[in-house]
Amino acid sequence: RAVAAVIPAAGRGVRLGPGAPKALRTLGGIPILVHAVRALIRAREVSLVVVVAPADGVAAVRSLLDSHGLPESKEIAVVAGGDTRQDSVRLGLAALPDDVDVVLVHDAARPLVPVETVDAVAAAVRAGAPAVVPALPLADTVKEVVPAPGGGPEPVVGTPERARLRAVQTPQGFRRDVLAEAHEKIASNGEGATDDAGMVERLGVEVVVVPGHEEAFKITRPLDLVLAEAVLARRRA
Ligand code: C5P
Repeated sequence: RAVAAVIPAAGRGVRLGPGAPKALRTLGGIPILVHAVRALIRAREVSLVVVVAPADGVAAVRSLLDSHGLPESKEIAVVAGGDTRQDSVRLGLAALPDDVDVVLVHDAARPLVPVETVDAVAAAVRAGAPAVVPALPLADTVKEVVPAPGGGPEPVVGTPERARLRAVQTPQGFRRDVLAEAHEKIASNGEGATDDAGMVERLGVEVVVVPGHEEAFKITRPLDLVLAEAVLARRRA
Protein backbone atom coordinates (compact mmCIF):
# COMPACT_ATOMS: atom_id res chain seq x y z
CA ARG A 1 0.00 0.00 0.00
CA ALA A 2 1.70 3.14 -1.24
CA VAL A 3 1.08 6.81 -0.53
CA ALA A 4 1.71 9.30 -3.35
CA ALA A 5 1.61 13.09 -3.34
CA VAL A 6 0.32 15.09 -6.30
CA ILE A 7 1.55 18.70 -6.33
CA PRO A 8 -0.33 20.98 -8.76
CA ALA A 9 2.18 23.67 -9.71
CA ALA A 10 0.85 24.80 -13.08
CA GLY A 11 -0.75 28.06 -11.95
CA ARG A 12 0.58 31.43 -13.09
CA GLY A 13 0.08 33.17 -9.75
CA VAL A 14 -1.33 36.37 -11.24
CA ARG A 15 -2.45 37.63 -7.80
CA LEU A 16 1.20 37.78 -6.68
CA GLY A 17 1.92 40.48 -9.22
CA PRO A 18 4.23 40.40 -12.26
CA GLY A 19 7.14 37.97 -12.42
CA ALA A 20 7.89 34.26 -12.81
CA PRO A 21 5.17 31.59 -12.31
CA LYS A 22 4.40 31.39 -8.59
CA ALA A 23 5.96 27.97 -7.97
CA LEU A 24 9.27 29.13 -9.45
CA ARG A 25 9.66 32.26 -7.33
CA THR A 26 12.16 31.84 -4.56
CA LEU A 27 11.94 31.82 -0.77
CA GLY A 28 15.25 32.00 1.06
CA GLY A 29 16.90 31.54 -2.35
CA ILE A 30 15.09 28.27 -3.10
CA PRO A 31 12.09 27.95 -5.48
CA ILE A 32 8.71 27.66 -3.75
CA LEU A 33 8.10 24.39 -5.59
CA VAL A 34 11.31 22.84 -4.25
CA HIS A 35 10.25 23.73 -0.70
CA ALA A 36 6.86 22.09 -1.33
CA VAL A 37 8.36 18.90 -2.77
CA ARG A 38 10.75 18.65 0.18
CA ALA A 39 7.90 19.15 2.65
CA LEU A 40 6.06 16.15 1.16
CA ILE A 41 9.00 13.77 0.69
CA ARG A 42 9.99 14.37 4.30
CA ALA A 43 6.88 12.40 5.27
CA ARG A 44 8.03 8.82 5.78
CA GLU A 45 4.98 7.25 4.17
CA VAL A 46 5.17 9.24 0.94
CA SER A 47 7.07 7.15 -1.61
CA LEU A 48 6.28 9.08 -4.80
CA VAL A 49 5.71 12.74 -5.66
CA VAL A 50 4.08 13.77 -8.94
CA VAL A 51 4.66 17.44 -9.75
CA VAL A 52 2.21 18.93 -12.24
CA ALA A 53 4.03 21.62 -14.20
CA PRO A 54 2.85 24.21 -16.72
CA ALA A 55 2.47 22.39 -20.08
CA ASP A 56 5.31 24.43 -21.59
CA GLY A 57 7.51 24.05 -18.53
CA VAL A 58 7.87 20.31 -17.91
CA ALA A 59 11.54 20.10 -18.93
CA ALA A 60 12.41 23.27 -17.01
CA VAL A 61 10.74 21.99 -13.83
CA ARG A 62 12.45 18.61 -14.21
CA SER A 63 15.88 20.20 -14.39
CA LEU A 64 15.05 22.61 -11.57
CA LEU A 65 14.20 19.68 -9.27
CA ASP A 66 17.27 17.70 -10.42
CA SER A 67 19.50 20.67 -9.63
CA HIS A 68 18.30 20.89 -6.02
CA GLY A 69 19.55 17.50 -4.85
CA LEU A 70 16.33 15.82 -3.73
CA PRO A 71 16.66 12.37 -2.11
CA GLU A 72 17.02 9.57 -4.65
CA SER A 73 15.22 7.11 -2.37
CA LYS A 74 11.92 8.70 -3.41
CA GLU A 75 10.57 8.88 -6.94
CA ILE A 76 9.73 12.33 -8.30
CA ALA A 77 7.80 12.53 -11.58
CA VAL A 78 6.94 15.67 -13.54
CA VAL A 79 3.87 15.78 -15.81
CA ALA A 80 2.12 18.52 -17.81
CA GLY A 81 -0.83 20.35 -16.22
CA GLY A 82 -3.98 21.95 -17.59
CA ASP A 83 -5.91 25.22 -17.68
CA THR A 84 -7.47 24.89 -14.23
CA ARG A 85 -6.24 23.48 -10.94
CA GLN A 86 -8.84 20.73 -11.32
CA ASP A 87 -7.44 19.72 -14.74
CA SER A 88 -3.92 19.75 -13.33
CA VAL A 89 -4.86 17.43 -10.45
CA ARG A 90 -6.68 15.07 -12.83
CA LEU A 91 -3.58 14.85 -15.05
CA GLY A 92 -1.42 14.18 -11.98
CA LEU A 93 -3.72 11.37 -10.83
CA ALA A 94 -3.57 9.79 -14.28
CA ALA A 95 0.21 9.46 -13.89
CA LEU A 96 0.08 7.37 -10.69
CA PRO A 97 1.19 3.72 -10.75
CA ASP A 98 -1.33 0.98 -9.86
CA ASP A 99 0.01 0.22 -6.38
CA VAL A 100 -0.84 3.69 -5.03
CA ASP A 101 -3.96 3.62 -2.89
CA VAL A 102 -3.66 6.83 -0.86
CA VAL A 103 -3.18 10.22 -2.55
CA LEU A 104 -2.22 13.50 -0.90
CA VAL A 105 -2.94 16.56 -3.06
CA HIS A 106 -0.77 19.49 -2.04
CA ASP A 107 -0.62 23.02 -3.46
CA ALA A 108 2.87 24.04 -4.53
CA ALA A 109 1.80 27.41 -3.13
CA ARG A 110 1.96 26.02 0.47
CA PRO A 111 5.73 25.43 0.67
CA LEU A 112 6.11 25.61 4.46
CA VAL A 113 3.61 22.95 5.57
CA PRO A 114 5.16 21.08 8.55
CA VAL A 115 5.75 17.35 8.14
CA GLU A 116 3.53 16.71 11.19
CA THR A 117 0.54 18.04 9.24
CA VAL A 118 1.35 15.83 6.24
CA ASP A 119 1.70 12.80 8.53
CA ALA A 120 -1.57 13.55 10.34
CA VAL A 121 -3.53 13.70 7.07
CA ALA A 122 -1.99 10.47 5.76
CA ALA A 123 -2.63 8.73 9.09
CA ALA A 124 -6.31 9.73 9.10
CA VAL A 125 -6.79 8.24 5.61
CA ARG A 126 -4.94 5.08 6.71
CA ALA A 127 -7.26 4.90 9.73
CA GLY A 128 -10.25 4.65 7.40
CA ALA A 129 -11.42 8.13 6.41
CA PRO A 130 -12.02 8.34 2.64
CA ALA A 131 -11.24 12.07 2.55
CA VAL A 132 -9.34 14.26 5.02
CA VAL A 133 -8.60 17.99 5.01
CA PRO A 134 -6.38 19.98 7.38
CA ALA A 135 -8.12 23.16 8.48
CA LEU A 136 -8.02 26.03 10.97
CA PRO A 137 -10.69 28.19 12.63
CA LEU A 138 -11.10 31.67 11.15
CA ALA A 139 -9.92 34.90 12.76
CA ASP A 140 -12.17 37.08 10.61
CA THR A 141 -15.95 37.08 10.51
CA VAL A 142 -17.15 36.03 7.04
CA LYS A 143 -19.99 37.66 5.08
CA GLU A 144 -21.75 36.27 2.06
CA VAL A 145 -22.38 39.00 -0.53
CA VAL A 146 -23.96 39.36 -3.94
CA PRO A 147 -21.47 40.75 -6.44
CA ALA A 148 -22.73 44.18 -7.53
CA PRO A 149 -22.91 44.93 -11.25
CA GLY A 150 -20.40 47.66 -12.09
CA GLY A 151 -18.29 47.01 -8.99
CA GLY A 152 -20.33 49.13 -6.53
CA PRO A 153 -20.87 48.31 -2.83
CA GLU A 154 -21.95 44.68 -2.46
CA PRO A 155 -25.12 43.85 -0.50
CA VAL A 156 -24.57 41.38 2.36
CA VAL A 157 -26.94 38.42 2.30
CA GLY A 158 -25.71 36.48 5.31
CA THR A 159 -23.20 35.97 8.13
CA PRO A 160 -22.41 32.28 8.78
CA GLU A 161 -21.64 31.43 12.41
CA ARG A 162 -17.88 31.87 12.62
CA ALA A 163 -17.32 29.12 15.19
CA ARG A 164 -18.53 26.53 12.65
CA LEU A 165 -16.34 27.71 9.77
CA ARG A 166 -12.88 26.36 8.90
CA ALA A 167 -10.29 27.59 6.43
CA VAL A 168 -8.97 24.53 4.64
CA GLN A 169 -5.40 23.90 3.64
CA THR A 170 -3.45 21.16 1.92
CA PRO A 171 -2.29 18.41 1.74
CA GLN A 172 -5.79 16.99 1.41
CA GLY A 173 -5.72 13.20 1.66
CA PHE A 174 -7.92 10.70 -0.15
CA ARG A 175 -8.47 7.07 -0.84
CA ARG A 176 -7.31 6.97 -4.43
CA ASP A 177 -10.50 5.37 -5.77
CA VAL A 178 -12.64 8.08 -4.15
CA LEU A 179 -10.62 10.97 -5.58
CA ALA A 180 -10.47 9.35 -9.03
CA GLU A 181 -14.25 8.88 -9.01
CA ALA A 182 -14.76 12.52 -8.04
CA HIS A 183 -12.58 13.68 -10.91
CA GLU A 184 -14.43 11.40 -13.34
CA LYS A 185 -17.97 12.29 -12.28
CA ILE A 186 -17.97 15.86 -11.05
CA ALA A 187 -18.19 18.24 -14.00
CA SER A 188 -16.02 21.32 -14.10
CA ASN A 189 -17.84 24.65 -13.76
CA GLY A 190 -15.57 26.63 -16.06
CA GLU A 191 -13.33 28.02 -13.31
CA GLY A 192 -12.72 24.49 -12.00
CA ALA A 193 -12.99 23.43 -8.36
CA THR A 194 -10.85 25.35 -5.85
CA ASP A 195 -10.38 22.28 -3.69
CA ASP A 196 -10.47 18.52 -4.18
CA ALA A 197 -12.46 17.72 -1.07
CA GLY A 198 -15.32 19.86 -2.41
CA MET A 199 -15.60 17.51 -5.39
CA VAL A 200 -15.63 14.48 -3.09
CA GLU A 201 -18.41 16.11 -0.99
CA ARG A 202 -20.49 16.43 -4.15
CA LEU A 203 -20.18 12.65 -4.62
CA GLY A 204 -21.88 12.29 -1.22
CA VAL A 205 -18.77 10.88 0.44
CA GLU A 206 -17.95 12.13 3.96
CA VAL A 207 -14.98 14.49 4.30
CA VAL A 208 -13.43 15.02 7.75
CA VAL A 209 -11.22 17.79 9.12
CA VAL A 210 -8.00 17.38 11.11
CA PRO A 211 -6.08 20.30 12.66
CA GLY A 212 -4.15 22.34 10.10
CA HIS A 213 -1.12 24.50 10.83
CA GLU A 214 -0.52 28.26 10.60
CA GLU A 215 2.64 27.66 8.58
CA ALA A 216 0.70 25.76 5.91
CA PHE A 217 -0.71 29.08 4.63
CA LYS A 218 -0.98 29.62 0.89
CA ILE A 219 1.27 32.10 -0.84
CA THR A 220 -1.18 34.12 -2.90
CA ARG A 221 -0.53 37.85 -2.47
CA PRO A 222 2.72 39.83 -2.12
CA LEU A 223 2.35 40.06 1.69
CA ASP A 224 2.36 36.26 1.89
CA LEU A 225 5.90 36.23 0.48
CA VAL A 226 7.03 38.58 3.27
CA LEU A 227 5.48 36.29 5.89
CA ALA A 228 6.98 33.17 4.30
CA GLU A 229 10.47 34.69 4.28
CA ALA A 230 10.07 35.52 7.98
CA VAL A 231 8.92 31.98 8.86
CA LEU A 232 11.86 30.51 6.96
CA ALA A 233 14.35 32.88 8.61
CA ARG A 234 13.02 31.86 12.04
CA ARG A 235 13.36 28.16 11.16
CA ARG A 236 16.95 28.65 10.02
CA ALA A 237 17.93 30.70 13.09
O1 C5P B 1 -4.79 29.59 -7.86
P1 C5P B 1 -4.61 28.86 -6.57
O2 C5P B 1 -3.78 29.65 -5.58
O3 C5P B 1 -5.86 28.29 -5.97
O4 C5P B 1 -3.71 27.61 -6.96
C1 C5P B 1 -3.49 26.57 -6.08
C2 C5P B 1 -2.47 25.60 -6.67
O5 C5P B 1 -2.97 25.05 -7.89
C3 C5P B 1 -1.13 26.26 -6.98
O6 C5P B 1 -0.10 25.41 -6.49
C4 C5P B 1 -1.14 26.35 -8.51
O7 C5P B 1 0.15 26.26 -9.09
C5 C5P B 1 -1.99 25.15 -8.91
N1 C5P B 1 -2.63 25.30 -10.25
C6 C5P B 1 -2.37 24.35 -11.24
N2 C5P B 1 -2.93 24.47 -12.50
C7 C5P B 1 -3.70 25.54 -12.79
C8 C5P B 1 -4.00 26.51 -11.78
C9 C5P B 1 -3.45 26.36 -10.51
O8 C5P B 1 -1.64 23.39 -11.01
N3 C5P B 1 -4.17 25.63 -14.03
